[in-house]
Amino acid sequence: MRIADIPQVMEVERESFPSMWPPTAYKRELQQNRLAHYIVVVEHRPAHTGARRGAQAPPAIEEPQPRQGGPVGRLLGELRQILGGDDGRLPPPEQREELVLGFVGVWLLPDEAHIVTIAVRDSHRRQGIGEFLLIAAIELAQRAGQPLMTLECRVSNEPALALYEKYGFQQLGLRPRYYSDTHEDALILTTSSLLSLKYQAALEQLKREHRQRWGDLAERDG
Ligand SMILES: CC(C)(COP(=O)(O)OP(=O)(O)OC[C@H]1O[C@@H](n2cnc3c(N)ncnc32)[C@H](O)[C@@H]1OP(=O)(O)O)[C@@H](O)C(=O)NCCC(=O)NCCS
Repeated sequence: MRIADIPQVMEVERESFPSMWPPTAYKRELQQNRLAHYIVVVEHRPAHTGARRGAQAPPAIEEPQPRQGGPVGRLLGELRQILGGDDGRLPPPEQREELVLGFVGVWLLPDEAHIVTIAVRDSHRRQGIGEFLLIAAIELAQRAGQPLMTLECRVSNEPALALYEKYGFQQLGLRPRYYSDTHEDALILTTSSLLSLKYQAALEQLKREHRQRWGDLAERDG
């Protein structure tokens, strides 16, 4: 993830975690948190004439987009802009030359890698992108020599729980009433040793299946 990705990442965060407050301070995460690593999946569409990386938004969309949700929603939107650096001037998704489809954040702690966030743009779910992000996060942790990967997940989040189960996460415990919006419990999930031959073989098999099903996703240049 680059600084220029942040407005789009925040857009995906907003639609994925509508009750999340405050929004993640991505700029601080990227620039100041040495533990943090963020990966994005970007769809590159050179034929589009929308905003290029680092360029100004085209004149047609200079005005801030109206925000939904009445006065409270608008106030939250404005606060998000101040806190998160969301410039509110993103062109519509179909006009962007690069569209952020999803992202994952990992903190490499002393004894474990912790997934702090993972989300896929609503319009692009169930196309293997969440899985691709999770694979990238696990491989990052393996390269850093981390023995385990952990995360928290709402007990009701069936899509995410199914994804984690597929990649060998198991329930380690429960944090009661962990989420402040609904007071829902969080499951604490962990992998077995990422560095064991057994886990590595299972991951290779899942990667092969993912590639066969969804094709090769190229790494972004530059
Ligand atoms: C969880 C999330 C990241 C999955 O992303 P995705 O790109 O749609 O997932 P993929 O297409 O890669 O699916 C991979 C696996 O996840 C599981 N999965 C994903 N969506 C699912 C759904 N709607 N129902 C059941 N299982 C689902 C399946 O195990 C799937 O494997 P399969 O295709 O072999 O069945 C996405 O739903 C999302 O962004 N949700 C909102 C944010 C969120 O809840 N993040 C997790 C916080 S803990």
